[in-house]
Amino acid sequence: MASTAQAWQLPLKKVVNMTVSPPVVRTVADLRARTADARKSGKKIGLVPTMGALHHGHLSLVDVVANQSDFVVVSIFVNPTQFGQGEDFEAYPRDEQADLTKLAQTGADLVYIPNVAEMYPAGDASKVSVSGISDKFEGEHRPGHFDGVATVVSKLFMQCLPDVAVFGEKDYQQLAVIRQFVRDLSIPVHVVGAPIIRESDGLAASSRNVYLSSRERQIAGQFNLVLKKLVHAVENGSVLIDAEQAAVEALLSAGFDTVDYVSIVDPATLEPLIEFKGHARVISVARLGKVRLLDNMAIGSSL
Ligand code: PAF
Repeated sequence: MASTAQAWQLPLKKVVNMTVSPPVVRTVADLRARTADARKSGKKIGLVPTMGALHHGHLSLVDVVANQSDFVVVSIFVNPTQFGQGEDFEAYPRDEQADLTKLAQTGADLVYIPNVAEMYPAGDASKVSVSGISDKFEGEHRPGHFDGVATVVSKLFMQCLPDVAVFGEKDYQQLAVIRQFVRDLSIPVHVVGAPIIRESDGLAASSRNVYLSSRERQIAGQFNLVLKKLVHAVENGSVLIDAEQAAVEALLSAGFDTVDYVSIVDPATLEPLIEFKGHARVISVARLGKVRLLDNMAIGSSL
């Protein structure tokens, strides 16, 4: 039988305080002090990097990391360097209080909210750039985007020194880019990809879904259905280029304004495939008004 101390400690990890928000730190020094204390007491550190505007997709990432670590840090930072000119950096939804209220219902132990000067101190002149995997798809449509992501995520890793960090599979190429630089730079962090969280009609949860008008929101629900149909067609022997073309046409007839790409790729390298050999990923971006919606799905068995 567990001793009193053990019995008292056992359920603690699962108990979530439903009302009190986790403490907030805003500087690298304070973050390091808190994580160093946790590490000293033998805790494994987990990190969930976010840009705030938290939704149930983000909260599921906190759950995933909480199951693989003992001290969960959630960072909230709208990173200017990953937004291109004319993108929504200024308009990006920000509501710190609402985010903290949501985090009070999770296993988050600490929230790190640096400002731009803390993240990019005056005179800052270094960046992390990942060639190859960053260049296509989102890299082509949003030049410089992945340099911004790779740079800020590297900084967050150096600042927090997590044992494990979790990223949503919704941004599938982002996850691949992060895995690449973590391997290339020998950063000692275990990167975990968490499954896409979907709304009741299957739309992938995203902070930018709030930009959709009610008409656009209805159309958006077709995105996952079109991709599901593509997955079914490929698994049943369709020629890949025909399946991609059929998906583009289906998205346009569903009411999407433009389709940036529908591509069937190797799930690890994101190289476009000509032939299906048992496992692949379809990645896609379609636009509704000003909103670019991203989605992706596994085809065949996972790697
Ligand atoms: O996926 C996001 O929210 C951002 O790209 C990330 C990983 C937090 C970096 O700013």
